[in-house]
Amino acid sequence: MERSEAEARHIKLVHGLRIHDHAYYVMANPAISDQEYDRLYRELVDLEKAFPDLMTSDSPTQKVGGKALSSFSPAPHLTPMMSLDNTYSEGEVRDFANRLQKLLPNEKLIFTVEPKIDGVAVNLRYENDRLTIGATRGDGTTGDDITANLKTIRSIPLALHFDAGITGAKKILEVRGEVYFPKQGFAKVNAERVAAGEETFANPRNAAAGSLKQLDSKLVAQRPLDAVFYGIGHSSGYTPISNHQKWLEWLNNSGFKTPERLWVCQNIDEVLTAIHELDTLRKTFRYETDGAVIKLNDLALRERSGVTSKAPRWAMAYKYAAEQAETLLHSISIQVGRTGALTPVAELTPVFLAGSTISRATLHNEDELRRKDVRAGDTVVIEKAGEVIPAVVRVVLEKRTDRAVPFLFPSSCPECGGKVSKEMQAGESGAVLRCTNYFCAAQMRGRIEHWCARGAMDIEGGGEVMARQLVQHGLVKDVSDLYSLTMERLLTLERMGEKSARNFLEGVEISKGRDLWRLLFGLGIFHVGAGGAKSLGRNFAHLDDLAASSVEQLNEIDDVGAVIAQSLHAWFREELNQQLIERLRKAGLNFKSALYKERALVTSGPLSGKTVVLTGTLPTLTREQATEKIEAAGGKVSGSVSKKTDYVLAGEDAGSKLEKAQKLGVHILNESQFLSLLG
Ligand code: IVH
Repeated sequence: MERSEAEARHIKLVHGLRIHDHAYYVMANPAISDQEYDRLYRELVDLEKAFPDLMTSDSPTQKVGGKALSSFSPAPHLTPMMSLDNTYSEGEVRDFANRLQKLLPNEKLIFTVEPKIDGVAVNLRYENDRLTIGATRGDGTTGDDITANLKTIRSIPLALHFDAGITGAKKILEVRGEVYFPKQGFAKVNAERVAAGEETFANPRNAAAGSLKQLDSKLVAQRPLDAVFYGIGHSSGYTPISNHQKWLEWLNNSGFKTPERLWVCQNIDEVLTAIHELDTLRKTFRYETDGAVIKLNDLALRERSGVTSKAPRWAMAYKYAAEQAETLLHSISIQVGRTGALTPVAELTPVFLAGSTISRATLHNEDELRRKDVRAGDTVVIEKAGEVIPAVVRVVLEKRTDRAVPFLFPSSCPECGGKVSKEMQAGESGAVLRCTNYFCAAQMRGRIEHWCARGAMDIEGGGEVMARQLVQHGLVKDVSDLYSLTMERLLTLERMGEKSARNFLEGVEISKGRDLWRLLFGLGIFHVGAGGAKSLGRNFAHLDDLAASSVEQLNEIDDVGAVIAQSLHAWFREELNQQLIERLRKAGLNFKSALYKERALVTSGPLSGKTVVLTGTLPTLTREQATEKIEAAGGKVSGSVSKKTDYVLAGEDAGSKLEKAQKLGVHILNESQFLSLLG
């Protein structure tokens, strides 16, 4: 393809995909099928590979994450990000309106009411309509530059939909909003974290904050984060807008998601009605809404009312009380998980809360338990955190009796008596107390249950009860022992009928042939969830190839970030794990990847999976012809030489690319060598 043709096609694809992204992610109203979208997207990816200089920072291909950072840089905001005055009282909402009316006598005050989104506040700066910096709130004046992470959020426009501006001078806009973790995806991410041996998030807000703190934007791209925008921090060069309602419309037209509902109220009674309406509606929103934000609509009046040291006088947040209940905490137990993590659990007198009866609640970890000073015998307030997992919010101190004794965290594992240690695992935000005995019964049970789980090796009948019995009776120490179980031995277990034993043994037998990714996930390697295991399966033909790869090689795989790469590499270097792999091999388990084969089928050919860089003028082939041949042979053409380049196809007058290839020791081909390679 000629360059000029490529440029024109690039503009068309970028524009088209931007419109489709907006229709899909912002308006929830896709105009084309997923397949059609994927086709356009792939075309853009390929085009940018062939002409790398066409790729700009606002291309839709920039939404998948890039290189991991070592730290975030400070990002000063053009105007401070303030907070809001809060209240739980309707009376104080009336006081707020009265105060404003006194400050602005003779003015007709019109208020807006909108959801208060319980997420993480962010500031996006656009310069000449392109997103340049995205930052957290930080101390209100300066935040962390998390641009790479924010770019992965599909509904955030990398470029504004067109506004001609007022002067032709440089246009700068700061847009304020909230990044959130959708309620729906929350349970799933926690289940995946449990499966990968990671700490769970307490609520969707923590999940959003934890995701945005990741230094590896590729990992962020895998989270279903979304964002809503509700204000402007700074605007210059754009057509002035006189009120909040119009700003939200403008933001929406420019490509942003704005609050689900906006009420425009003529007086304070209408404000209170809107607050009540929002309270019933908010349960249907995709994000947690912990309150209503009441704002003065007119921007000139806002200016006149001014700000206090931390919050504007023209806005206020009314917070809805969370659904809570009081109950007696009769004891605290410790659960030991598959990875040895010790989690304190509150055992409660059953109580009805937000639709279900709760008898246990998580106390998260030792630090949390100490901070709240929760004791057995206390009356506690529990809450459905993020409307999902019940958690203990606080102790009702007025009801504490002398019998309530402080909880002593065990200094050894309550399950096996083994040593516990408090080491921070890579990728974890805090230190977790863990049992260090690999042969702890609780860990063994957990590992077996996880191996048999539907998402892993899918062995029917291998649930919690079976895992407990197998370990308790010493029939199984690790997952490889499942493959030497016999009917006679199984029948020694209590309440084990012949039929269930046969079914279980059959399931175990079938599992020998499962695909590599299931086995990898089943092994329960830290941070390796099902998604990561599938990526590994697509990239390695055999378990041995994976076990032998370096951290750098692992790091280059799509969806495998630095944390996963480190964890995998370390796992395969532990002697106990190597022995386990050998036992599984002996038992006849499949170590080959069908996912890899599927991929190979699509791209089979002499250059399958290889990256080639073209440079200089070839004697007979044009650049397009060479590109076509490389692609037909399953290869990819790249514009720049790196360690990842497999071949450089060099012709006459090849310059710096050839030099770089020589320096890096990349294989260099001339045209006839290239043609004979293709056969
Ligand atoms: S307006 C000058 N509107 O709540 C402050 N804030 O508790 C302007 N928030 O820092 C903020 N939803 O992070 C505004 N619809 C909404 C909001 C909202 C959530 C957050 C925001 C703010 C915090 C204050």
